Amino acid sequence: MPARLVVLVSGSGTNLQAILDAAADPAYGAQVVAVGADRDDIEGLARAERAGVPTFVAKVSDYTSREHWDRALADKVAAFEPDLVVLAGFMKLVGESFLGAFGGRTVNTHPALSPSFPGMHGPRDALDYGVKVTGATLFVVDAGVDTGAIVAQTVVPVEDDDTVESLHERIKVGERSMLVESVGRMAREGFAVEGRRVRLGG
Ligand code: GRF
Repeated sequence: MPARLVVLVSGSGTNLQAILDAAADPAYGAQVVAVGADRDDIEGLARAERAGVPTFVAKVSDYTSREHWDRALADKVAAFEPDLVVLAGFMKLVGESFLGAFGGRTVNTHPALSPSFPGMHGPRDALDYGVKVTGATLFVVDAGVDTGAIVAQTVVPVEDDDTVESLHERIKVGERSMLVESVGRMAREGFAVEGRRVRLGG
């Protein structure tokens, strides 16, 4: 049986698309059983619909508190019985209820080389700092901001004439490959989290 993935998105969903494309091959070992978002009318949801994958939306503004939203999000995800939850450009921090249900089997991708430049502006912060290489980090989500145990990282150069946009686009090319490869391995081979170390394979 392929592993069941629920993918959460907030934007254009190119990372989601890369997983959808990979999962079309049964040998990939995982299938996207649902795509969730924290907002309507985004390309990420349209990509899921085009692929015939069920979607759901949980907007913070539809709930009386952040905690209620977090519980509702966890319930919506749970309905699809995922083996692994993939945050792919999901621009919200999940909370206690969500981590209570899916901690240890939720991964997120961040467009910087952790532990450098956590938060919403990884590419901008790396460019402003003047680093010569940056990249993306796949990690097991914990209660912090981009602090979880690292599954994989990919490195890209920073060019002299980069803008935030050109740098982020270069990062995203590597990020998509890293995500597809690592999620596939997690699905096919299993994984173990030992402190800060993540080991792929049995
Ligand atoms: C990715 O770089 C992700 O790491 C960041 O936002 C971007 C999302 O891209 N948080 P997309 O929606 O998958 O195209």
